[in-house]
Amino acid sequence: MKPLGRVMATDYLTANHCPANVLFVARLTKGTTPMILVTGATGHVGGALLRHLSVPARMLTRDAARALPGVEVAVGDLADPASLAPAFAGVEKLFLMDPVFSPDGTRNAVHAAKEAGVKHIVLLSSIGVTLDPLPLLGAEHAEREAIVRDSGIAWTLLRPSHFATNTARWIGELEAGRPVVHADGDARYPTIDPADIGEVAALVLGGGHEGRAYVLTGEEPLSVAEQAAVLAARLGVEARVTGVAPEQAERGMLASGMPPKLAAAIRDLHEATRAGRTGVVTPTVRELLGRAPRGYADWVGAL
Ligand SMILES: NC(=O)c1ccc[n+]([C@@H]2O[C@H](COP(=O)([O-])OP(=O)(O)OC[C@H]3O[C@@H](n4cnc5c(N)ncnc54)[C@H](OP(=O)(O)O)[C@@H]3O)[C@@H](O)[C@H]2O)c1
Repeated sequence: MKPLGRVMATDYLTANHCPANVLFVARLTKGTTPMILVTGATGHVGGALLRHLSVPARMLTRDAARALPGVEVAVGDLADPASLAPAFAGVEKLFLMDPVFSPDGTRNAVHAAKEAGVKHIVLLSSIGVTLDPLPLLGAEHAEREAIVRDSGIAWTLLRPSHFATNTARWIGELEAGRPVVHADGDARYPTIDPADIGEVAALVLGGGHEGRAYVLTGEEPLSVAEQAAVLAARLGVEARVTGVAPEQAERGMLASGMPPKLAAAIRDLHEATRAGRTGVVTPTVRELLGRAPRGYADWVGAL
């Protein structure tokens, strides 16, 4: 990864003797180029975004040990408002993703953004918000979108479809000779590579996309069986797939300890997918990036 910020997290810790949970970085950026705060920076989309930014960026993480080389780091938790004020100091633009199944983290981040005078929020939402009727996960993202829209801060909404990275958990199963167990039926849908979402996020953070909502998809709809065949071929193993009903998948999630509200939302998403409602293909990635989105085979090929 190319260096993005100007201060190594480890240098910063040493130089400022900050407590491990909060690194005060505002002093280092005051009076310089506007700062972008990237949440989810250790994840798929935020990590890709950082690779595409050529301006100063600060990453938010709950764990200082996950700091990336060459990037300013703020240790904070979207669930902990007190940790966000120092992380947001001096920030002009925010890439906001919140992986927790609750709007509270988004609410905390927007509050901190308003306090800090942030001028633009790019929110990682979901294609689910465009479906009618709204699936439970779509309703969750719609609530976050409303919080951001109502903030008075300029916004851009990214609404991606199924991530190719969701299938990474199949690798161990296939390599062990076990089937990919899924509840998506024969439905075809176009996966999107989170790297493309990160690249789009970097583009829109550059300005000119305020007030826009983009549905981001790949262009090649594939069923689970077809995806598994591509992945298995790459791994050099047999492709085995077992379909189950969404209710059965939900029972399995509950048995593994998943909170009932989340398990119900995932079952609901499987039902929407089986019905073909998430199979939408948009030209938006191509239009924004000036090239085709990376297909599922591209993502597998890069493993
Ligand atoms: N998967 C899909 O098909 C799909 C489709 C549409 C939308 N989405 C949305 O995309 C997002 C997931 O993106 P992703 O795959 O890039 O994420 P990811 O790779 O799963 O990474 C999760 C990130 O969230 C951070 N995080 C977790 N809890 C946090 C907290 N309490 N406070 C601050 N940061 C926290 C983690 O940072 P640290 O561990 O470093 O703190 C990590 O960087 C979700 O919001 C999901 O709803 C997913």
